[in-house]
Amino acid sequence: MINMQIDTKQTKGTISRYIYGQFAEHLGRCVYEGIWVGEDSPIPNTEGYRNDVLEALRKINIPVLRWPGGCFADEYHWMDGIGPRSRRARMINTHWGGVEENNHFGTHEFLRLCELLDTEPYISGNVGSGTVREMQQWVEYMTFDGESPMAAMRKENGREQPWKLPFFGVGNENWGCGGNMRPEYYADLYRHYSTYVRNYGGNRVYKIACGPNTADYHWTEVLMREAAGLMDGLSLHYYTLPTGNWAGNKGSATEFGIDEWFSTLKNTQYMEELIVKHSRIMDKYDPEGRVGLIVDEWGGWYDVEPGTNPGFLYQQNTLRDALIAGINLNIFHNYSQRVKMANIAQVVNVLQAMVLTEGDRMLLTPTYHVFDMFKVHQDAERLEVSFESPDYKHGAEKIPQLSASASVDAVGVIHLSVCNLHHAETASIRCCLNGAEGKQVTGSLLTHSSLNAHNTFGNPDEVAPVPFTGARMEAGELVLKLPPASVVVLSIV
Ligand code: AHR
Repeated sequence: MINMQIDTKQTKGTISRYIYGQFAEHLGRCVYEGIWVGEDSPIPNTEGYRNDVLEALRKINIPVLRWPGGCFADEYHWMDGIGPRSRRARMINTHWGGVEENNHFGTHEFLRLCELLDTEPYISGNVGSGTVREMQQWVEYMTFDGESPMAAMRKENGREQPWKLPFFGVGNENWGCGGNMRPEYYADLYRHYSTYVRNYGGNRVYKIACGPNTADYHWTEVLMREAAGLMDGLSLHYYTLPTGNWAGNKGSATEFGIDEWFSTLKNTQYMEELIVKHSRIMDKYDPEGRVGLIVDEWGGWYDVEPGTNPGFLYQQNTLRDALIAGINLNIFHNYSQRVKMANIAQVVNVLQAMVLTEGDRMLLTPTYHVFDMFKVHQDAERLEVSFESPDYKHGAEKIPQLSASASVDAVGVIHLSVCNLHHAETASIRCCLNGAEGKQVTGSLLTHSSLNAHNTFGNPDEVAPVPFTGARMEAGELVLKLPPASVVVLSIV
């Protein structure tokens, strides 16, 4: 029996809802086909956005949506994407498959999507190949409330009122696809470009600097030293690869055995070490914790589905991805003092997606179900969970078998999310609610007898949550039995 304690006597700060952010890049079939089909499409749509996807995404309460990239952001010129669609400039999407980009989905379409999803926009600006003027004008175009050249252009294009622009990224991966810069050089560019990202009228922009790739602690050190005072957030990108190897095969999304199950979950747990070590550097320059660590790209990255365009990053999504999602969300909760936003890559049809589409069909992935189950933590107050996890041993290696986090919501309901990483062993837990006496527990469970179970267009509900019957209250304490390879979220009142 594993002993666990939830300290309900004191809360540990708010779990920002922005941890549940999403990311939509002009990449493969994410924006085009996945979200935007155009008003004339036979696929049922609202103003050009597919209805099935809108409906599914609304249900998981997306708090923030990042766009237009990714690597695409640093070659995107926003003026190409405004005005009558038939007259918009075309370009080649050199990063992603070399396909033509017709710019039919631009600033107006993105911001309307945010309205339809009731989500807040997070726009990534172009530092790699764009000018300071271009960035300044984009922010003016979107947010200036009054008479100005950019506001006039916006009105000509059909939008009278300015939009709210809460989040703006000054470049993306400028250590790589966004210009191959050194941190010293980018830090200066950040200072320069961000100066012109203005707060017009009542709009306040939370400015996010391009942060490190994975364990590049030098990048964090330089950025914090040189520019912390001018930023609100610093991004971090880390993807989970089964092999941990970018150079060779990454591994299949669906064809894997226990070795890759284990290595994938081990690699995803590395997120915790990254957050701890980057936070330590941030603490040095920002002891008050004002600058947020913004994990604006994360998730599983595998070989593309056989027969699909390698530049489109289309991959299936299995029970293993549900575990990746649950483990990372638990980590973000547990470090929510510093982690103020996270954006899983990506929302539709790309990498670890929420939904997949094929023609007029759509399916919800296991990852979607985890986001749906976990959404009860959004803006809830974090509670400390203590336990000594048993080891999950595999060959000569071992990792913690359990991942957990807890929160209490505005009406006093305690939520506990737990993942059992072990592919074969059940976990029996006795959990004391230090400071409270639970009377009733309900919950939902996501698991399957096959580790690589996934939803297909022919069988879209193969992996879906069910009511969890393995938990009960016993003298005010919670007793639960987690099946192997499972994700559970409990509500305790
Ligand atoms: O999410 C796919 C790509 O991964 C993004 O465009 C880039 O920022 C990262 O390398």
